[in-house]
Amino acid sequence: MKSSQTILTLRGVTRRFGGLVAVNKLSIEVKEASIHGLIGPNGAGKSTAFDLISGLTSADAGEIIFRGEIVTHRAPESRVAAGICRTFQTPKLFDEMSVLDVVATGRHLHNALGLWGSMFSIARKRAEEARTISAAREFLTTVGLGAKADAPVADLSYGERRLVEIARALATEPKLLLLDEVTSGLNPVETASVGELLRELVRLGLTIMLVEHDMKFVMGLCDDITVMNYGSVIAQGSPGEIVQNPDVVAAYLGSPRDGQRSRRSLRADAPACP
Ligand SMILES: Nc1ncnc2c1ncn2[C@@H]1O[C@H](COP(=O)(O)OP(=O)(O)OP(=O)(O)O)[C@@H](O)[C@H]1O
Ligand SMILES: [Mg+2]
Repeated sequence: MKSSQTILTLRGVTRRFGGLVAVNKLSIEVKEASIHGLIGPNGAGKSTAFDLISGLTSADAGEIIFRGEIVTHRAPESRVAAGICRTFQTPKLFDEMSVLDVVATGRHLHNALGLWGSMFSIARKRAEEARTISAAREFLTTVGLGAKADAPVADLSYGERRLVEIARALATEPKLLLLDEVTSGLNPVETASVGELLRELVRLGLTIMLVEHDMKFVMGLCDDITVMNYGSVIAQGSPGEIVQNPDVVAAYLGSPRDGQRSRRSLRADAPACP
């Protein structure tokens, strides 16, 4: 049964870039062991919201509370240690590293070492790191990439790179996983298997926030959805409530002020837009 306990609260979180308010008084409650979708047209502020939650950028106003603690201005490593981990809209992987070593860096982040330090320590102390390596193998198996552990990242397909990013994030043992456009560039079979993986992770107690443009994926998977447009929340609710919300439909269909801005369909049977 789903918990109704809140794991993450954003209260009035704001981030400006010069004169642009990228995220404007964003308030969200994310329930533990749920999947919370964050959607909206291009430039709505979704990735910036993830940057704020993960500490990559800092809030100009508002408060972020994770598991009862205020983390608003904590460093990214401290948030990873607290249990917040994210993947990026564009996978950030080093081609020359082996898949296993990439996932092991997540393990080192879990051990509160910096990413660069952990990379060098992998090179120096490999013999002492049997436990790290074996844990990394397990996380790769979880995402279905156990057989590719020793391959260089360069040999992987785009979809497999996405899975490696997820495995690396899982290796930090997060309680909250932030996935930024995790299905972008994946084929329908890969997308469906990522959906299954996420469901399984939530069954195991993980909480997931998803930024997504694939409406079929979002509507089929999420328990709750927050819709942003021009930095502000325009709707929050269940998938059923969101698809019928006139403000959301208008934001996705575009309006004269949008010009050539994103015109993505909200229909669950619409083709995914990368
Ligand atoms: N570092 C930055 N400096 C200046 N402007 C920024 C910066 N990061 C984001 N922005 C601007 O903030 C707004 C929100 O950007 P963001 O990347 O959060 O949108 P998004 O919802 O993730 O869009 P997309 O769906 O295209 O990924 C955009 O207008 C963007 O140009
Ligand atoms: Mg984005």
